[in-house]
Amino acid sequence: MALETRCFGPDDGLFNRRQLRHLLTSPHATWLVEGHFEGAACLLIASNGRSRWGRLYSLSVDPQFRQRGIARRLLEAAFAWLREQGVDVCRAEVKIDNLGARRLYAAFGFEEGPELPHYYGLGQTGLKLTLRL
Ligand SMILES: CC(C)(COP(=O)(O)OP(=O)(O)OC[C@H]1O[C@@H](n2cnc3c(N)ncnc32)[C@H](O)[C@@H]1OP(=O)(O)O)[C@@H](O)C(=O)NCCC(=O)NCCS
Repeated sequence: MALETRCFGPDDGLFNRRQLRHLLTSPHATWLVEGHFEGAACLLIASNGRSRWGRLYSLSVDPQFRQRGIARRLLEAAFAWLREQGVDVCRAEVKIDNLGARRLYAAFGFEEGPELPHYYGLGQTGLKLTLRL
């Protein structure tokens, strides 16, 4: 929760304590953590009939540990784990004005679009992201 509030504001899709507790205990969610919570990524595996996909649900790196490649390492581990699970598509969302995160995802080959109006609250546009693993 401390990491979450250091990394996200109310207009960024901040999880509350209840949502985090649910995600930490859900059998559909897997967490990858670096160090003593310097950074964390949460992945979900979702399914629809016979198709399954991974969803990158949260990614956060403590401000004091940024720009050292922690997010990149978490994502590399995340995608390797999804491949091991036999999942070949990963989906995510990002706020349209989060240029740092968009650059990071683009470097992994995520394709952007379509836009998601009001996804993060009134006037806060999101973007859908898709990566073929
Ligand atoms: C986005 C975030 C996870 C990046 O974490 P990080 O550990 O600093 O990222 P890395 O050091 O692994 O950076 C890898 C690449 O991402 C891009 N990047 C990361 N932060 C960036 C920034 N602020 N501005 C521009 N590019 C950035 C760069 O391409 C960088 O590669 P480079 O250093 O070779 O240029 C972190 O800033 C964060 O937690 N932000 C708040 C929460 C958030 O926005 N999460 C994503 C929600 S979808």
